[in-house]
Amino acid sequence: MLGYPAHFGQMECLKLVASPKYADKRLGYLGIMLLIDEKTEVLTLVTNSLKNDLNHNNMYIVGLALCTLGNISSSEMARDLCAEVEKLLGSSNTYIRKKAALCALRIIRRVPELYENFMSRSKSLLNDRSHGVLITGITLVTEMCQQNPECIEVFRKAVPLLVRHLKNLASAGFSPEHDVTGVTDPFLQVKILRLLRILAQNDQEASEAMNDILAQVATNTESTKNVGNSILYETVLAIMDIQSEAGLRVLAVNILGKFLSNRDNNIRYVALETLNKTVGIENQAVQRHRNIILDCLRDGDISIRRRALELSFALINEGNVRVLTRELLAFLEVADTEFKQSMTTKISLAAERFAPNKRWHIDTMLRMLKLAGNHVREEVLAGFIRLVAQSSDMHQYTVQKLFAALKRDISQEGLVLAGVWIIGEYGDVLIDGGNFEDEDTQMENDILKVTDAAVVGLLESILMGPYANQLTREYVLTALVKLSSRLSDASSQGKIKEILNKHTISMEVEIQQRAVEYTNLFSFDAIRPAVLERMPIPEGRTIIETGGNVPSSPTSGRAASKSGPSDQDLLLDLMGVGTASSGGAMEEPEAAPQSPVTATASSSAAAAAPQQNNVDLLADIFGSSGSPTSPIQSQSPATPSHAGNSLLDLLGGGDEQPTTAPAPATPTGLDSLAGLSSSLDTTTTSPQQQQQQQQNIPGYEAYTKNGLRIHLVPSRDRKNPAIINIQVLFNNNGSQGTVTDLQFQAAVPKSQRLQMATASNTTVESSATEKQMMRINNPQQTAVKLRLRISYVLANSGQKVDDMAEYGPFPENAF
Ligand SMILES: *[C@@H]1O[C@H](CO)[C@@H](O)[C@H](O)[C@H]1NC(C)=O
Ligand SMILES: *[C@@H]1O[C@H](CO)[C@@H](O)[C@H](O)[C@H]1NC(C)=O
Ligand SMILES: *[C@@H]1O[C@H](CO)[C@@H](O)[C@H](O)[C@H]1NC(C)=O
Ligand SMILES: *[C@@H]1O[C@H](CO)[C@@H](O)[C@H](O)[C@H]1NC(C)=O
Repeated sequence: MLGYPAHFGQMECLKLVASPKYADKRLGYLGIMLLIDEKTEVLTLVTNSLKNDLNHNNMYIVGLALCTLGNISSSEMARDLCAEVEKLLGSSNTYIRKKAALCALRIIRRVPELYENFMSRSKSLLNDRSHGVLITGITLVTEMCQQNPECIEVFRKAVPLLVRHLKNLASAGFSPEHDVTGVTDPFLQVKILRLLRILAQNDQEASEAMNDILAQVATNTESTKNVGNSILYETVLAIMDIQSEAGLRVLAVNILGKFLSNRDNNIRYVALETLNKTVGIENQAVQRHRNIILDCLRDGDISIRRRALELSFALINEGNVRVLTRELLAFLEVADTEFKQSMTTKISLAAERFAPNKRWHIDTMLRMLKLAGNHVREEVLAGFIRLVAQSSDMHQYTVQKLFAALKRDISQEGLVLAGVWIIGEYGDVLIDGGNFEDEDTQMENDILKVTDAAVVGLLESILMGPYANQLTREYVLTALVKLSSRLSDASSQGKIKEILNKHTISMEVEIQQRAVEYTNLFSFDAIRPAVLERMPIPEGRTIIETGGNVPSSPTSGRAASKSGPSDQDLLLDLMGVGTASSGGAMEEPEAAPQSPVTATASSSAAAAAPQQNNVDLLADIFGSSGSPTSPIQSQSPATPSHAGNSLLDLLGGGDEQPTTAPAPATPTGLDSLAGLSSSLDTTTTSPQQQQQQQQNIPGYEAYTKNGLRIHLVPSRDRKNPAIINIQVLFNNNGSQGTVTDLQFQAAVPKSQRLQMATASNTTVESSATEKQMMRINNPQQTAVKLRLRISYVLANSGQKVDDMAEYGPFPENAF
């Protein structure tokens, strides 16, 4: 009736029900089931009719009444008619007994305390010869036991009976009436197993009584058919829940192990779920299926991959940590992005817990940072730095490894942060070690030259590189100032001063402040080495495992927004790019972790008169002087705070963007835009130059409408040819006034990966150009094709524009 009032029909239905004819009654009861709910007043009238019909001598009419009662029973009705139903449970007619059991089930679901009325009758149902009555009776008893634990005691006496039923079913020959693909009444078998499981929980005697039959069912049931598997699964659950024998449990785990190679996804899924529950109890038995569990990491179904991953981590122990970590690291390389962060956290936890020695621990962490340095939580990084600081005999080894690793790849943020910190801290150890052979390359005799200039050069390349962000810049500056007291070569000292000096005019407040402070420190050569002494060895602390993101920590928040699937998927859906790998939506300007320095330093810096050779005072400049955490450490991500974020916002969140090698085609006027990143050659653009820019924007036009022109300026990364940096320029010729709320999104083909920085401004004034960086990782070097979504508001008319565009490939000589 789709919600239309149906009262007019109710009385008609009652009249039909009162008719002596079966066909009328059937129609009337069907109408009642559809039109009446328990709030209707006519319900009392129905109760009377039901009472009459429950006592009818036509079994089909009794059946109709039981059906209707089960369907609409209100609690009042249930109480009124409970006695009738109880009587019918003892009927000599199987058809009626079966329906009465189901009706009783509905009644106790509605009014649980009525269960006592059905107790004695339902005991005899468990003895019934008819499968139909038996299965409904068992269902009723199961419900009672689940609702009232005291029932379990009573029904436990039926265990031998149920075991006998199960035995008969399991050993029955072909019975055409109950056969389902060669298995006799699997539905009944499953129900019996479920009830047995409830009855034998925490009861030794009952458990023993069913050990044999469980073993028999577990071994004899056909596992090639889904029907058989459902029985096996239920058997496994029973074995795990009751106090079964050890051998039986191993058998159960092996059944699950066998499920893992089943072709049906659902079966693999339940197997992994159940193994995960079991792994704490039957660890040894589960360990035996390790290889196949690891194989599931490569399953096509993501929910299976996720379960397999959880289980793999649960399997790690002292004995297999080497093997399993190796496998998990191999998987980390290909794992879904959304897994990576939790994987790195768990791998480092496992390494911390089970590491056979420090060397292995450090190697594992290094490997992890190399593979997934962009998906590492800050606690994990802090843990690694702590580990290195505590292992003084490994300093040289570690710092050399990191030096070599950063020489090869500076795209992994975690690796860069850890490497820069450690090279800054132990630069002297690195230099003392001299040149060394890089064992990790395929080439033989690849000797890495370690000189003061090489170390400073490496840090400078990170600073200028395309992956640098505010955090890495902060780390590099601090590392450089530390190195100034660790390195002896005068020209390198000069270089360090020069770099620091350049940053004293950085647009990033935090960077500028630090650069100014560090530069000033050079006027205090007498105490500078003391200020920059090694950090005290940090105390042990355990990484707290959290499933997802820690909202209060900027780094993890950032990682999450990079990999966050929801936005991305939405965009891709929108653009019909199927499961393309990435399409970063606009990120919020990121919070900069800030030490107390910013809050306190300016005043203390002003107070620190130059002639005051007071270490404490100077240390104060760097933050907390008295506290055990020393200043430079406090810059480590362990103390995040969102303070200063708004300031950064004011100055333009855009300066988070990675630097690009300016495309050769770029006219110099654009340096002022690109200059945000390095603030090296910030030259002010004159209005005339601006005028010129508008007419002649570099790069390739991807979109033009409403005065808004979007140009792409591609350039190949100098270090990694697979990476293409694209500077997106948004120019507004002003024909429609200011453009606001500009949102620019892009998607790339499946084989490529896309990262986007924040736009320099979402408002483009008339005659202005804003920019945004994006980076495409294109390992297979396929043609770059972009799908763009551009939305903005024309301030003059208030009109909202939502457009799509496509671009690509770039011309041959574009890079
Ligand atoms: C009652 O019966 C109607 C009609 O057969 C059916 O649509 C409905 O789902 C039943 N409600 C319950 C609670 O069984
Ligand atoms: C696996 O077991 C662990 C510990 O018992 C639990 O925290 C986790 O949620 C389980 N995972 C799944 C996917 O059920
Ligand atoms: C964006 O541009 C508007 C107008 O030119 C300006 O007021 C605002 O400060 C800019 N915002 C940022 C973050 O640069
Ligand atoms: C501005 O650009 C639009 C196209 O986006 C073009 O039609 C118009 O002529 C341009 N106006 C000026 C003044 O250049």
